[in-house]
Amino acid sequence: MAQFTMSVGSEPSVFFRCRCYFTRNFYSAEYGKHFEFEDNGQEFIQQNSKLLEEIGCSTPEKKNKLLFVLEKESTRRKNIDAQSVQRKSKIKACYAPLHKVNVLKEEYLKEEFLAIVKHAKEGNATFASLSKKLKKEKVEGVYRLPVFKKTFCKNLAEELNNFESSNMPKGRPNTMNNGGILLDELGFNEDFITPLRECYLDPIAKILFPDWVDEKLDSHKAFTVNYKEDQDLDLGYHYDNAEVTLNVCLGKDFDDGSLYFGSMRQECNRSDKTVEVKHKVGEGVLHRGQHKHGAMPISYGERTNLIIWMRSSSIRNQLCPMCDNKPTLAPAIGFGDGFTRHDTLTVQVCSLH
Ligand SMILES: [Fe+2]
Ligand SMILES: [Zn+2]
Repeated sequence: MAQFTMSVGSEPSVFFRCRCYFTRNFYSAEYGKHFEFEDNGQEFIQQNSKLLEEIGCSTPEKKNKLLFVLEKESTRRKNIDAQSVQRKSKIKACYAPLHKVNVLKEEYLKEEFLAIVKHAKEGNATFASLSKKLKKEKVEGVYRLPVFKKTFCKNLAEELNNFESSNMPKGRPNTMNNGGILLDELGFNEDFITPLRECYLDPIAKILFPDWVDEKLDSHKAFTVNYKEDQDLDLGYHYDNAEVTLNVCLGKDFDDGSLYFGSMRQECNRSDKTVEVKHKVGEGVLHRGQHKHGAMPISYGERTNLIIWMRSSSIRNQLCPMCDNKPTLAPAIGFGDGFTRHDTLTVQVCSLH
């Protein structure tokens, strides 16, 4: 077997995770906290004894319950890609969609949004000229975008309900959301989310967040979240594993449940006074992934949102936002967590004799 290296050029097509995915940022909704967990329960209890005491996780029962959550999450993450591939192929083969809305059409998009995108793509567009066209929010660095028409939101929400009530296998978006759907598994990546990111959102984000988009937003993770009286009501304060996030409200009928924003992830010393941003059906909130935020509880009804975590490999390859180190790459399928190799790639070549 011969071995040589070749440059993969400026357009690498293989995405990776950072290895910290398997041990860090495990969320416990009960304590509203993220933990680091390395598969050894007794060691975890010993190393975190002071913290566990402080947060009220002090009895053996409570500790075992927390360990159960962390071990389950560790297993889920280790098997995530294999299980996702299985679910996706079963859904592709067996799921009967209610509305065929997984191919993006311009008729789904609001005229105002198309005008904003058109301006962003013009050579003379600047931060000042683009922000003038956007509705102002009270939080710096948070922008409201009118994205989808109401009829499309209704159809997509109905499609998600149809899928949710089917007997198809379902993965969940992340440790923080129990209700929600991974849109890649439902077949929305290739012809819906990717063109939406590349042709519509990247040109806007590049002007609003130039330091966080750099070359381009070249991958994403898209999912929906659902808030309902018997499911999740709210979402704890956190930041996203993304450079830029779009969060669009799809409906349905609900009261309260606003988003709130505080400081950036690295601004530890700033007092965390938060400001609320209301959800409006069809409108999206565009913000930096590292801008800490949460969702207030809904007081009535049901709310579904489409979340697109957009990643720029040229930014995150320098520093993984989840462990604050240079990423240690682990293989992944699809977009992984958006990391790429820009250096040289070792290629194994089989010799025929
Ligand atoms: Fe978030
Ligand atoms: Zn990392």
